[in-house]
Amino acid sequence: MTTALDWIRVCRLDELPEVGAARAQLDGRIVSIVRVADGSVHCIDDECTHGKVSLSEGEINDCSIECWLHGSRFDLRTGKVLNPPATIPVVVHHVKIEGDDVHVALNEEN
Ligand code: FES
Repeated sequence: MTTALDWIRVCRLDELPEVGAARAQLDGRIVSIVRVADGSVHCIDDECTHGKVSLSEGEINDCSIECWLHGSRFDLRTGKVLNPPATIPVVVHHVKIEGDDVHVALNEEN
């Protein structure tokens, strides 16, 4: 049996940079809401899995975000590490757009 997702309205779409990330706190968890050049919006845990720095301050390329400290890149769709030194994937959360609103459901499995 699947559990219904617990959606939280985070912001309006036009409050996000056209290409960029914004940090948000949802139920005590710090996440990055990231919009990429194709217009899609993604949500990941904000903390790099290599060190305690904010990924939302990193650089976005295509569908990845690069940690500003040591350059690890993470796939925004899967959380997968694309290059070291990080080895642990970042947690990806669910995103849906309804009208102009961005909603996130936290991935409670991680
Ligand atoms: S702290 Fe992010 S790659 Fe090292």
